[in-house]
Amino acid sequence: MNEQPDAIRANAAAALRTARIRTLALTDCLDDAELQAQHSPLMSPLVWDLAHIGNQEELWLVRAAGGRPALRPDLDPLYDAFAHQRADRPALPLLPPEPARQYIRAVRDQALEVLDAARFDETGNPLLAGGFVFGMIAQHEQQHDETMLATHQLRLGPAVLKAPAPPPADTGRLPAEVLVPGGPFTMGTDTDPWALDNERPAHRVDVPAFWLDTVPVSNRAYQEFIADGGYGDPRWWSPDGWKHRQQAELTAPLFWQRDGSAWLRRRFGTVEPVPPDQPVLHVCWYEADAYARWAGRRLPTEAEWEKAARHDPDTGRSRRHPWGDADPTAEHANLGQRHLEPAPVGSYPAGAAPSGARQLTGDVWEWTSSDFLPYPDFAAFPYKEYSEVFFGTEYKVLRGGSFGVDPVACRGTFRNWDYPIRRQIFSGFRTARDADPSDTAPRGTAARDADREVS
Ligand code: AVJ
Ligand code: FE
Repeated sequence: MNEQPDAIRANAAAALRTARIRTLALTDCLDDAELQAQHSPLMSPLVWDLAHIGNQEELWLVRAAGGRPALRPDLDPLYDAFAHQRADRPALPLLPPEPARQYIRAVRDQALEVLDAARFDETGNPLLAGGFVFGMIAQHEQQHDETMLATHQLRLGPAVLKAPAPPPADTGRLPAEVLVPGGPFTMGTDTDPWALDNERPAHRVDVPAFWLDTVPVSNRAYQEFIADGGYGDPRWWSPDGWKHRQQAELTAPLFWQRDGSAWLRRRFGTVEPVPPDQPVLHVCWYEADAYARWAGRRLPTEAEWEKAARHDPDTGRSRRHPWGDADPTAEHANLGQRHLEPAPVGSYPAGAAPSGARQLTGDVWEWTSSDFLPYPDFAAFPYKEYSEVFFGTEYKVLRGGSFGVDPVACRGTFRNWDYPIRRQIFSGFRTARDADPSDTAPRGTAARDADREVS
């Protein structure tokens, strides 16, 4: 993509504006006490996220890109995510909500002046090339907006967020799984100007043929695992997973409760029956891994996931999104907090990948079997604390993006990561299996009224 400066400037301004509208919508709906409260030890008080968003924007747009003097250098240590654990943040002398709002407005005014004057050519400041740093900061704000949405989900008390229900699923029958033929494909990117450091560089990866679930694992399917005693059978769990299952007393996805023989869930302050046709949500990696083993399958690797989502066998190139290079619309995927829940499995036929897999983007983040590791020749840019300090075996990669992800922070190359015990995030999964050359037909159907035959 080699965009004209005016187009880069307009895109950057729009992405920053969209992020700010969402940030304010997630914070203006609660009173000061609720913004300053810690709704869960896993999360920051919302007022911390609010000022942290402004502080990152000050560091990168006003100071680093703009070369301007600091507005509030005294705030840097308070809003440095590495200086204080989330659980310790309520005790800090944080800006109260109104001063935090004034601060982020003052930063934004200066950031827009920097944007007006910026040049984006490749010969200048590498932060500005292609408008990268503006995209990085818009994505940062949107990532915190998703985190704040997760805080809203953890918060007790009556609902304050509202959104229409997602559209009904395509009722046609789908094969339960799709075959992704073996061979090399291009993973990662060199050309996407707003791709973050961990998505680079593009490199060839040879992925043997495999079968992938056409759609994410549904609540109905997951309930069968529960009903079959899946949580009580160590055969299905990895050793660490079983230890965690016992210690944390996991018996069902987070936010679920039993109602006789049925299941209810709490969703943004409302208790409702678990919808059987939606992708399962709020499961940790250990639960996803156990379910897959119970089903006689496994989680896909990160490379398998990306190949299924991006590889176009007709051209041999990798697409930006499963459906092509075009930006997502409401026809393609459930993104951007338009809805406050995943759409039923089998939705969004227009968003299908060439393989036929659906909902790879949007609805739920999908756990992969892979650790969060750098690609060959990775280079941290612009700072080690975005990705590099997290590389290793402690974190598992999630792909695809949830209903709470904005399109600016969502593409076929985007990599998310978290600890395998985490489930307050909007996480689900789908399963895979090796392709046995003698076995050329999909097993079962993924339609609303039919289940996979589980061995
Ligand atoms: C990519 C979602 C794992 O929230 O820790 C926000 C994003 N990085 N501020 C996180 C992020 C710095 C990051 N995740
Ligand atoms: Fe951050």
